[in-house]
Amino acid sequence: MDKAQPLVGIVMGSDSDWGTMQKCVATLKQFGIPFEAHVMSAHRTPEKAARYAEEAEGRGLKVLICAAGMAAHLAGVIAGHTTLPVLGVPMKGGAMDGLDALLATVQMPGGIPVATLALGNAGATNAGVLAAQILALGDPALRAALHDHKAEMARKVEAADERLQAEL
Ligand code: RP5
Repeated sequence: MDKAQPLVGIVMGSDSDWGTMQKCVATLKQFGIPFEAHVMSAHRTPEKAARYAEEAEGRGLKVLICAAGMAAHLAGVIAGHTTLPVLGVPMKGGAMDGLDALLATVQMPGGIPVATLALGNAGATNAGVLAAQILALGDPALRAALHDHKAEMARKVEAADERLQAEL
């Protein structure tokens, strides 16, 4: 069977980012969004990263998710080479435990946005949700799935509160 056309492209600066970015992959799978994932680096493979960004729109991708740690330039470099929405996920780790990556990802100059998510696992999950929300603008079924997802989260919080009240 042919693989579905990927709508989301995930790129990571290193395979050491994969453990965290599996949260993003799990979220995209939960919403049935076809994706591709690659390792490429703004520093170690700069030409490949630029080429990937330049070709992404023509290849049918709609949203790019970029994960990098330390001097995290990947999302910014990708954003510089495409007009697709770019979501940046800063990775924890290194001497500053991700604060460097957070600032490098979020502090883009005017005109070249990177929608920056939280550090680490929460950011990886939220990149998947935000990609789903962007794609849902043109996909009513996906929009309905996002409404269900929010309702399910609310139900879980209510259930947790009920359990707590029963213990008090
Ligand atoms: C960044 O440097 C990567 O995104 C990774 O988070 C960090 C460390 O990379 P490795 O030395 O583990 O390959 O470019």
